[in-house]
Amino acid sequence: MTGRLCMLLVATLAIVVTPGYGAGADPRHDAVVEVQIDPATAGPGIDPNIFGQFAEHLGAGIYGGIWVGRDSSIPNVRGIRSDVVGALRALHVPNVRWPGGCFADEYHWRDGVGASQQRKVTLNSNWGGSVEPNAFGSDEFMDFIEQIGSEAYLSINVGSGTPREAADWLAYLTAPVSTSAGQERAGNGHAAPYRIKFLGIGNESWGCGGAMSPEYYLNQLKIYSRFVRNFNPLQSGDQTMRRIAVGADGADTSYVEADMHAWHDRVWSWSFEGLSLHSYTSAGWPPAHPSEHFDEREYALFLKDTLGMDALIGKHSALMDRYDPDRKVALAVDEWGVWLAPLPGSNPGFLVQQNSLRDGIVAALNLNIFARHAERVRMANIAQMVNVLQSMIITQNDRMVLTPTYHVFRMYVPFQNAQRIAVRLDAGVYAHDGIVLPRLDALAAVDAQHRIWLAAVNLDPTREAPLAIAAGQGHAHSAKGEVLTAQRVDSVNSFAAPDAVAPRPIAATLEAGKLMLLLPAKSVAVVQIQ
Ligand code: AHR
Repeated sequence: MTGRLCMLLVATLAIVVTPGYGAGADPRHDAVVEVQIDPATAGPGIDPNIFGQFAEHLGAGIYGGIWVGRDSSIPNVRGIRSDVVGALRALHVPNVRWPGGCFADEYHWRDGVGASQQRKVTLNSNWGGSVEPNAFGSDEFMDFIEQIGSEAYLSINVGSGTPREAADWLAYLTAPVSTSAGQERAGNGHAAPYRIKFLGIGNESWGCGGAMSPEYYLNQLKIYSRFVRNFNPLQSGDQTMRRIAVGADGADTSYVEADMHAWHDRVWSWSFEGLSLHSYTSAGWPPAHPSEHFDEREYALFLKDTLGMDALIGKHSALMDRYDPDRKVALAVDEWGVWLAPLPGSNPGFLVQQNSLRDGIVAALNLNIFARHAERVRMANIAQMVNVLQSMIITQNDRMVLTPTYHVFRMYVPFQNAQRIAVRLDAGVYAHDGIVLPRLDALAAVDAQHRIWLAAVNLDPTREAPLAIAAGQGHAHSAKGEVLTAQRVDSVNSFAAPDAVAPRPIAATLEAGKLMLLLPAKSVAVVQIQ
């Protein structure tokens, strides 16, 4: 069953009207939307890895954002800032993609291991030409992964590296101490092999990763997927490392076609388990739209742009289905998010932008789309984790601000590993300045403890939406959780006002046997239904 079939979002103005509920006399507030949740129609599991993150050596993404160094006055554990770790732990981050991005195809892992004073100092030619001290290397990354309780998604250098360099890197990380590679790792403080759960074989090889033709990349893929081995004896069964091949650049299908065709006809010596898709929400290219102080047209434009993710995934999934009807290969949307103009005064190479309520809503809409495509989309990585693009966290010296996107990721934690269930509602219409969008969006799931969760998004920035929720045959008697909204669609959290966009409790009332939840305008709510 496709995600679209599973959730009936009818774009029509003919919504069921039950007068008398909610905000009073204004008829625009009074139309009650019936939400039918059907726990009996359990769909696929929602892979926690769709809540993955991306941390590239780019601007203050690593240096300042994650790594402050052992001697820093900013509280840290072995150089990794503790406030950021604490905040990320609450997100249950399933995996972190590192070291890039475009950076990965010029990264030489040996520059970043061993005694810190002896590490090579290089230049980050992709991102602002900044000095790369290589202070945060493989062991520091793995320490970070351990501190936040996540898994490593390593992106190896196919563009300017060699299969041997990549193979040596994996040996350094995963081989037993009985080998020279394991000895070297032990000498650097970590005797036990690390766990590398995901391996990205190249990054945007159609672009910054070498502008390779699909055929050329495919030959590289076959070599790297065979020879870059994971030796960690504990990584068997479902812990086995999964290899992600470079796939689509937005709507372009040339890599998808070539990779999947070859995968279908593969021989024993090579394979991959995931195929990447990179797609940003930027409403045009290069990114030129502001991240703060924008109007409703900008808001609507970005929501429209981001909702295109559904068709994009549908298109690539359909092509993958032709070669892989059993959906063994996962679609990994391993770069997504809102990409906006650099903040005035910032280094344009550092991709610094603010993060508004609108961006939180964008995050929720995408997470809903990924979950609706759960049969194929089993990994996604928002770009990026700290200080870069649509980040979770913004830091400045010793201070930290949690963004609206962070709050959405935290509110969605119950959906990790839950099973998607059917939810039906009349989505209605939100139209502005010729842009026509669904007014509502929703996702429902049941978790391992049989608890039912509903995520509901009200895209309309002016009309609240009264929901009447029914869940299955039994009588639901409560719906409680959190809602994220703010004064304006462009409200942001800043160091001066860190909680301008912060979740607050929301609960349904029981009225005439119905569970009534008043969803504020421009909001995301996640509630547990009992
Ligand atoms: O996320 C920023 C950049 O966007 C990445 O380095 C690259 O892969 C993509 O083009």
